[in-house]
Amino acid sequence: MSHIKIEKLNVSYGNHQVLKNISLDIPDRQIVAIIGPSGCGKTTLLKSMNRLLDLNEEVVTTGDIMVDGASIYHNGMDVTSLRKKIGFIPQRPYPLPMSVFDNVAFGPRIHGLNGGRPEKNDDGHLKSKSKTNMSLLVERYLRLAGLWDEVKDRLHEPAVKLSIGQQQRLALARVLSIEPEVILADEPTSALDPVSAKLVEAQFKVLKENYTIIIVTHILRQARRLADYIVFLYLGDMVEHKPAAEFFARPEDEKTKAYISGEIS
Ligand SMILES: Nc1ncnc2c1ncn2[C@@H]1O[C@H](COP(=O)(O)OP(=O)(O)O)[C@@H](O)[C@H]1O
Ligand SMILES: [Mg+2]
Repeated sequence: MSHIKIEKLNVSYGNHQVLKNISLDIPDRQIVAIIGPSGCGKTTLLKSMNRLLDLNEEVVTTGDIMVDGASIYHNGMDVTSLRKKIGFIPQRPYPLPMSVFDNVAFGPRIHGLNGGRPEKNDDGHLKSKSKTNMSLLVERYLRLAGLWDEVKDRLHEPAVKLSIGQQQRLALARVLSIEPEVILADEPTSALDPVSAKLVEAQFKVLKENYTIIIVTHILRQARRLADYIVFLYLGDMVEHKPAAEFFARPEDEKTKAYISGEIS
């Protein structure tokens, strides 16, 4: 299980500092919710954990993040293997323009993880069982994402035909298919209707037995329902972080109290 430890992290976009001296030990195999008002730095903090901020040239990062004791910001860090270990689900699903089946099989195929890797018989011919192995893998990840029953008869339809709630669970299946240890999810239910949102939440509760899940949400009710641990950001500062039950029952900081009571949002 990968362990994430954030050490004195500062992040700026140009000269606008959006994360200020964040140090945080992420608890393993729990659902950690990063909460706070819009613009307080939640997405930035989430993306810093698998180096997705690198895609923006303006970003300046100081401090460090350790994954399994190794700095992810040092030169020579293998970003591809980092992103394989720490999967990211964006706010809106972007299915690949291919079938449901191929969306899930895509990652295992490129990472060569797969049951689908061509296996050869002694005579050099491909074994036909390799295809079956990939089918089993696709089924496994769709089940883990809570989507199998809804799509098992539509596997070869284009993924874009699924409802947005199904597409978001497909995004989860795709992340799971890379066999990550940590799942980062940025407001994963914000584009979904309430019923689909509940399905995604339910799936996270199942998955936390085996994965560390870090979710960004600005919905306090969702954090209450889902989170084991809360990280509260306000204007780039980490104001308070603790187990969720304690956070809601005994907030210490005045800003936390104001946020929980709805005085600031
Ligand atoms: N790519 C970017 N370039 C410049 N500023 C950005 C960029 N992304 C976010 N910001 C700014 O950084 C701050 C934090 O943004 P973000 O991490 O997206 O907050 P949240 O997810 O909490 O809404 C905001 O003031 C936002 O405008
Ligand atoms: Mg955000």
